[in-house]
Amino acid sequence: MRRPFIAGNWKMNTTKAEGVALVQAVAEGNTAGDAVEVAVCAPAVYLDAIATAAGGKVGVGAQNCYHEASGAFTGEISADMAKDIGCQYVILGHSERRHIFGESNADVCKKVHAVLAAGLTPIVCVGELLEERESGKTADVVAEQMYGSLAGVTAKQMDSVVIAYEPVWAIGTGKVATPEQAEEVHAGIRALMTAKYGETVSESVRIQYGGSVKPDNAAELLSQPNIDGALVGGASLKADSFLGIIAGAK
Ligand code: G3H
Repeated sequence: MRRPFIAGNWKMNTTKAEGVALVQAVAEGNTAGDAVEVAVCAPAVYLDAIATAAGGKVGVGAQNCYHEASGAFTGEISADMAKDIGCQYVILGHSERRHIFGESNADVCKKVHAVLAAGLTPIVCVGELLEERESGKTADVVAEQMYGSLAGVTAKQMDSVVIAYEPVWAIGTGKVATPEQAEEVHAGIRALMTAKYGETVSESVRIQYGGSVKPDNAAELLSQPNIDGALVGGASLKADSFLGIIAGAK
């Protein structure tokens, strides 16, 4: 059985005080216990404070990192730095990184290896643009992102990898994929992993759905056989709505 994993991606939002209050409210209000893995991915400058405030009751992740361990890379943070201040996860290849900041599959892949080497869990995001879906290219785009982003990752390392399927047209738009649309792609992603790593690995890797997940649509999405959690943007910025989504995963 795959344990549901609900992660909040705060993106470039909150003040430090708001973030601390938010993670504390999530920690206090979460009644799911061990049944659901829960994490928040905060802006890098607040991660230290958020990890302290989380007190081990809520997981903490960075939203990105650079693939080198240290050096002259102005403005970047490394996976080791994220680990050093208490992160367990790093989101990689989010569509905003791919489409606003021009990250390629090869860039994402280098980061995946760096995050795994640091002993953290990469949340590797894939997903198609609206025009790609409308022209019937969803499966090809997702396969290219999966294989490109995970090149050289071993079956053993896949134990520590989480995939997030986020159709770009559903992110921040209120236009959620239907459970059937999401499940079709999730099943396809699992089939890709079966082809590459075998059934034992593919059956254990968790695949989150992301894109306009809200308390009122979470339970139905999460009841799909291949949807193992959610990567939540806007609805993770309010404790009530994030807790409502966690409740939908139980
Ligand atoms: O990483 C999270 C996704 O981009 C989803 O964002 O829930 O605001 O649509 P959203």
